[in-house]
Amino acid sequence: MQRHLHLNLFIHGRGHHEAAWRHPSASPLPLTDIRYYTDLARKAEAGLFDSIFLADTLGVGEDVTHAPRTWLEPITTLAALAGATSRIGLIATCSTTYTEPFNLARQFASVDHISGGRAGWNIVTTWLATASGNYGGQGPLSHAERYERAEEYMQVVTGLWDSWSDDAVVDDRASGEYARDGSIRAVNHKGPHYQVAGPLNLPRGPQGRPVFVQAGSSDTGRRFAARYAEAVFTAQMEKATAKDFYADLKALTADEGRPPDQVLILPGLSPVIGATEAEAHRIARELNDLSDPEVGRKRLSGRFGGHDFSHLPLDEVLSPEDFPDPATVQAARSRTEVIIGLVRREKPTLRQLLGYMAGARGHFVTAGTPEQIADLIEDWFRDGAADGFNLMPPVLPAMLEVFVAEVVPLLQRRGLFRTAYAGETLRAHYGLARPEVRF
Ligand SMILES: Cc1cc2nc3c(=O)[nH]c(=O)nc-3n(C[C@H](O)[C@H](O)[C@H](O)COP(=O)(O)O)c2cc1C
Repeated sequence: MQRHLHLNLFIHGRGHHEAAWRHPSASPLPLTDIRYYTDLARKAEAGLFDSIFLADTLGVGEDVTHAPRTWLEPITTLAALAGATSRIGLIATCSTTYTEPFNLARQFASVDHISGGRAGWNIVTTWLATASGNYGGQGPLSHAERYERAEEYMQVVTGLWDSWSDDAVVDDRASGEYARDGSIRAVNHKGPHYQVAGPLNLPRGPQGRPVFVQAGSSDTGRRFAARYAEAVFTAQMEKATAKDFYADLKALTADEGRPPDQVLILPGLSPVIGATEAEAHRIARELNDLSDPEVGRKRLSGRFGGHDFSHLPLDEVLSPEDFPDPATVQAARSRTEVIIGLVRREKPTLRQLLGYMAGARGHFVTAGTPEQIADLIEDWFRDGAADGFNLMPPVLPAMLEVFVAEVVPLLQRRGLFRTAYAGETLRAHYGLARPEVRF
């Protein structure tokens, strides 16, 4: 059987470009209006996407006066989207650092039931330094501590999702037996960070547990992904680094004793699409003209954990020495590696760097015709850089609509993408096995 690529729609603001919310083709709906999200999820489903994804940050950014976000709490939103769609997978971020495992396990199991087996969890440790102020104010945990806690967290939530056997509920009105004796068991986890008795207070979901998605690409993040992730989102600015990442993560996964095809690697892709190349470049220019370098400067500072870049002139060429060493960054470490890699390679001015970051925050940005975008997707897919893409349309819904109408049919004609959903669950779309209960 021919290998098919996978497509996830990353819903973010009114599009991934920093200035998307101001663009005339962006949705007129408020970002707190659920119709905005249901419309996008339905459009992605009409385009036969595997899934949609909602990210989450646990605090307001310092750029809030000039940069709206996807405001609605993601798990609540997934529940609403579950009712508005029937096939597409529904993925949301939830933080291991700031969520009790019992809450998280319960919420995702509920979404899995509500959606008929379409839930996915993007496991993040939360890089945003200011989030800690909203959760007890102990100060942010270090990168290493966050991942260490996340390891234990995975044991706890997996135990909770496995605390009911698949056939636990009998629901036999005649005999009076609701749940099978011995099919629901305690977890009794007592570790350095978590003490959780269990069992979970609801039956196992249709997928057993949500699909595990992961999006940290540092060395520690990759090892974590190799152990747990079934799909990986990653920011790569060029095909060469995407190929290295792909090969490395598949090898690490095999080292963990897991089949490498059970980890899908989905780099971010933010295409500005026009009927002609000239039109695509015009739209890209319109977006760039609407962006404000001072908003970008604040965002850059956030990625580096609050590092002060205010003294750097906008129009002088940058050098890697203008940035802290990524190994010392406790925030979005792998993204800082991507940024410094770009500075080393292309020697941009700060204005140029911020312009590039405005596109999709360090993900791959391109502008072209539907044919050119399909060529790029095919090339990365066939050449060992991707199992599919995390589509990050620069403006929503306009660039999603063009992608579904123009690029998806090209991919289908080339035999690269499904022409109908073959299954009902996110696991089925992604080609992932259903985990056995470890009872
Ligand atoms: C596509 C994508 C989506 C992400 N979504 C979130 C998110 O919603 N919330 C969050 O705190 N971090 C998010 N991250 C950040 C990562 O989960 C991770 O915390 C960050 O990259 C730092 O870890 P690392 O140094 O191992 O990469 C995302 C990263 C990527 C590539």
